[in-house]
Parts: sequence; C-alpha cells; structure tokens
Amino acid sequence: MTKHVSPVPQDQTFRAEVLSGLKADRKFLSSKWLYDDVGSHLFEAITELDAYYPTRTEFTILKENARQYARLPGARGAMVELGSGSSRKTDLLLGTFQDLSVYMPVDISANHLKEAGERVRRAYPSLAVIPVTADFTQPLGNLPLLPELPVLVFFPGSTIGNFERSEAAALLQRIRDAMPGASMIVGVDRPKSEDILVTAYDDPAGITAAFNQNLLQRINRELGASIDLQSFTHKAIWNAAESRVEMHLVSLKDQDVEIGGETISFRQDETIHTENSHKYDEKAFAEIADEGGWRILGQDTDKDGLFSVYTLQAV
Ligand SMILES: C[S@@+](CC[C@H](N)C(=O)[O-])C[C@H]1O[C@@H](n2cnc3c(N)ncnc32)[C@H](O)[C@@H]1O
Repeated sequence: MTKHVSPVPQDQTFRAEVLSGLKADRKFLSSKWLYDDVGSHLFEAITELDAYYPTRTEFTILKENARQYARLPGARGAMVELGSGSSRKTDLLLGTFQDLSVYMPVDISANHLKEAGERVRRAYPSLAVIPVTADFTQPLGNLPLLPELPVLVFFPGSTIGNFERSEAAALLQRIRDAMPGASMIVGVDRPKSEDILVTAYDDPAGITAAFNQNLLQRINRELGASIDLQSFTHKAIWNAAESRVEMHLVSLKDQDVEIGGETISFRQDETIHTENSHKYDEKAFAEIADEGGWRILGQDTDKDGLFSVYTLQAV
C-alpha cells in the first residue's frame, strides 16, 4: 500500500501556486508540477532519447560502482529514494544490496510511484517496499522509518539540480534532519558544452517540448482553464551566469487566459519559467553539501566527465 505523508499536494495547492506564479512579475511555475501522470510518462520517454545523456551516463556510473555503494551502512537497512520516478536506476542497486530490508521510494507523482512500487515488489519479494507520496520540498519528518535501521538516501537523476544553491543546501539540511546519521548516493550533472546541454532539453523529436507543454494541459485539465496550446512554445536556454539550463514556455502573442476563475494576461514573447537544471562542478557541489551538513565520502564519474555520483555522510 502507498503511504501519503502530509502535506500531499492537493488541488488547492496546485491552484494557489499556479496563480501566484503566473501573477509574478517574472512568471514561473515550480518544476515539481511537470510531473502528473502524463508528465511522468513523458519524462520516461525523455530518458530514452539519444540527446538526453544524463540517464544513461548515471546508469553506467551506478553499475560500475554498485559493489562499492553496497558497503555504505544504509545498504543493510532502509533505502529512501527521493524523486524515485520509475525506480529503474534502483534496480542496479537492489540487485547488489543483498542485505537491504526496506525500500522507500518517495515521489510527488502518485500513480507513477504506485506502478513503480508494485514492479519493485514483484521483482524483490523479500524486500519491504513502502512507497510514500510526498513533496520533498516540505518537511520530511513524517517518513515511516524504523529508528533501528541505518538509512541510505538515494537521490539520482540530478534532481538536486532543479534547486538553486541555497535551496539545494536547505533541502540537504532537511534530509539530514529527518534522517540523522544517514548516508547518501546523489547524482549531480556537471557543466559542459552549451550544445550538448541545450539539445538535451530541446531534443529533435520534441519530447521535452511535449513534457513542458503538458504543464499547460495539466492546468487546463485540473483548473478548468482553456489555454490555447498552439499559442505557447517550448524554449530551453543555457544561462551561463547561473550555470543552468532553463526551460520556458513562451507566449506567441498578447493574450488573456482564464485560469481557476481569474484572468492572466500574457504579452507576446513573455515567458513562464518552468524548470531550472543547474550543473554543479566539484567546487559548487562541495559548498552545497557542506552547507547542507553532509561530508563528501567520494565522487564517481564517467570517462567523459559528463556526470558525477557522490557518496555523502550526514555530519
Ligand atoms: C528528474 S526526474 C528523476 C527521476 C528518476 N529518479 C531518474 O533518475 O530518472 C525527478 C523526479 O522527482 C519527482 N519530483 C519532482 N519534484 C518533486 C517533489 N517536490 N517532491 C517529490 N518528488 C518530486 C518527479 O516526479 C520525478 O519522478
């Protein structure tokens, strides 16, 4: 059974955040709202694309180092995966972590989480699989963990890159406070050429564009809005000063849109900023980890230095 840890994202929260984000001087929506059922399946399609190097690169690093990660204390206790999605990368670890007793995937996308949890339960019948629907930007103190089991946090996908430095450090701090003494395996994407980066977030097949546009469809579906999808286009840009790829939805004309009973005006070329994917090098990530209260145990990377997987210990 899937557990719901308060606060579970509610329709009211979605409505309130959409309206406040679209009324801001620079319109924005949190990237967490990209992941409804449709968005989660589109994200899975993105991970299969040639252009999207992070998934296959992180996969290789995890595969090469799984035996080493099995020596972390939590690998014999409970593994809590944050933003678990399809749990496909988890398979690599679960196959190696023979003595793990609990697997707790945590994700905001409830149905996708449930499907992934059922698949893992079937594949590893002796493991206690406890999916938790939760928003990890909220306090994590309610996770149903047993105090006697050491905890390993698994945080792949460079999801930490969706946060600005101070937010990422604050998130690491909240994780440490909720799971004192834990160790962590965290995937972090690294800076690289603008070409590779922008293509990864604006692929030729248009899957990332569909993923971004789905947020407008979600607003139509869940808030009874009538946004004309043809009047917004997907844009991915490399913001060198902030070391991040930004995704935007650009209004192609001046328009007024009814959303949740309110009228929101867009100017032509005005954008809704929907996602940041920060690329953190060693120095930047070391500062974030340190500020968040974690000591770096090691860093593993691929032969081309595209992506890093860090092991951390809460201090
Ligand atoms: C970049 S995807 C990574 C998925 C998977 N871990 C991987 O490595 O391919 C981000 C994942 O985090 C989840 N997510 C995003 N924001 C979240 C939040 N605030 N709370 C919980 N889950 C969140 C999404 O539903 C999605 O599954």
